[in-house]
Amino acid sequence: MSVVAIVLAAGRGERMHAGQNKVFLPLLGHPLLSYCLRIFELLDDVTEIVCVAHDNEWREVENCIAHAGLTKKVTIISGGDTRQASVRAGLAAVDTKHRYVLIHDGARPLLTVSLAMELIEAVKNASAVIPAVPVKDTIKRVAAGVVQVTLNRQELWSVQTPQAFRIDLIKQAYQRNDFATDDASLVEAIHPVKIIQGSYSNIKITTPEDLYFAEILLRKGENNYDTYWSRL
Ligand code: CTP
Ligand code: MG
Repeated sequence: MSVVAIVLAAGRGERMHAGQNKVFLPLLGHPLLSYCLRIFELLDDVTEIVCVAHDNEWREVENCIAHAGLTKKVTIISGGDTRQASVRAGLAAVDTKHRYVLIHDGARPLLTVSLAMELIEAVKNASAVIPAVPVKDTIKRVAAGVVQVTLNRQELWSVQTPQAFRIDLIKQAYQRNDFATDDASLVEAIHPVKIIQGSYSNIKITTPEDLYFAEILLRKGENNYDTYWSRL
């Protein structure tokens, strides 16, 4: 198995209002971005990591790479103005000798080794696999402040990363120029995308309170936090 992980860190973190890119904020003593890098280091099938970053933040990324104790090949490349453009840049840098790719938000520090392993196992058969959890809230479509329709919650899933794909498939999907907020939606047009159960703990750090949630989850032992870092 040869899997490359693309880690996205080229956002601005505007909704975090931290005055800096959120992926470098400290979380229980470790920079946020270093958590997922640590996980990819621990996954045997992942042989290479491509980290997508802003041109002026490479030093911060290198700090996170060192902090995570990475021994694998890591390439840092320049991101784009949108997440989609950053993924496209990441994919362009991926060596075609790899068969599969995991595309992950650097802003999701609570990824676990076991979830990533499940995705890697599943992508071998399915070619496109994403983790998702059933939505907890009732979701309505609203226009101009008025409810248009209440959606059937049984059919709604909240989608996470990493998203796992056969490399030729995701590259082909990215040749289309459609707009998408996740990678799977581009693949959906050309290939079935399988869902596996994600974790409610695999949160994306988006707004300030998410950092508190992450801290609480990590303190309570979620993510086997101690084991991951103690092997450094
Ligand atoms: N990302 C990226 N390149 C972009 C935009 C986003 O690599 N042009 C990355 C972010 O760094 C993050 C992930 O994609 O790890 C998910 O995006 P999001 O949570 O929206 O992060 P930001 O775009 O940084 O936050 P905001 O939208 O609040 O500005
Ligand atoms: Mg964003």
